[in-house]
Amino acid sequence: MGEWNFDMTGKVVLVTGGSRGIGKDIALAMAELGAKVIICSRKQEGLDEVTREFKNKGHEVIARATHIAKSEQVGALFQFLGEEYGRLDILINNVGMNIMTPAVADVEEGLWDKIIETNLKGTFLVSSHAVKLMRKGNGGKIVNITTVAARKAAMGMGVYGVAKAGVEMLTRVLAVELASDHINVNAVAPGMVKTRFSKPFWGDESTLKELTGTIPMGRIAEKADVVGAVLYLSSDLADYITGQVISVDGGALA
Ligand SMILES: NC(=O)c1ccc[n+]([C@@H]2O[C@H](COP(=O)([O-])OP(=O)(O)OC[C@H]3O[C@@H](n4cnc5c(N)ncnc54)[C@H](OP(=O)(O)O)[C@@H]3O)[C@@H](O)[C@H]2O)c1
Repeated sequence: MGEWNFDMTGKVVLVTGGSRGIGKDIALAMAELGAKVIICSRKQEGLDEVTREFKNKGHEVIARATHIAKSEQVGALFQFLGEEYGRLDILINNVGMNIMTPAVADVEEGLWDKIIETNLKGTFLVSSHAVKLMRKGNGGKIVNITTVAARKAAMGMGVYGVAKAGVEMLTRVLAVELASDHINVNAVAPGMVKTRFSKPFWGDESTLKELTGTIPMGRIAEKADVVGAVLYLSSDLADYITGQVISVDGGALA
């Protein structure tokens, strides 16, 4: 057993969707703990802004524009990672997209494809490349960010919930398949978290009041609530945990 801390010194960490929201805070926390951090997202402006922000805080980050559901772009990202570091210790599959959708039976095929592609296929593509690099090292840790909407049907979030439920099952399947490679695969499932992504749901006072009424702890999550669970599952403290999903929801699903 190592020391009782979350030290990440020298670990190579990839955080997908690290240019804002929860992913940015995970990336920053990893850098503060000593990790070499790589982030990706689609838009270069967001990546440039985050790179400046890290620098101002005295940290370095490598930022690469990559759409996680586009095979060639993911391939290029991992070619870079392989050449630059030759290994990957921790992957945080944080990218997720959700737009309010009609009832699932009324959703257009194109919208279905888009939501499933980014949330599920993208997570598969990145994980698949990551595993090949992790196998070259001493194994690794994968943490997927899912949602309580993967476990409890939520109006307007049906397709997103289906896709993220797929990510939960991917978590369990990979955990079993990769246990002998010393790769742990777990997930963190937040309830509503205060980010731009979820603003339509918490932005106005009456919706927020209605929402917090369903949460035993009486508040929605802050990004830091999610970061804590991710750091734990990424650390040596969680070496014997795999295939699990930790809900970070203030007791909503308890
Ligand atoms: N916020 C919540 O209430 C909440 C609740 C439960 C679960 N979650 C989950 O938590 C994760 C983070 O959510 P968030 O609220 O922090 O989201 P966010 O603020 O919208 O940030 C999403 C990040 O992902 C990037 N991204 C989006 N699509 C991408 C793609 N196809 N390829 C690469 N990068 C992409 C975005 O940058 P670009 O736009 O530049 O690509 C951005 O960096 C998601 O998986 C979400 O499902 C969030």
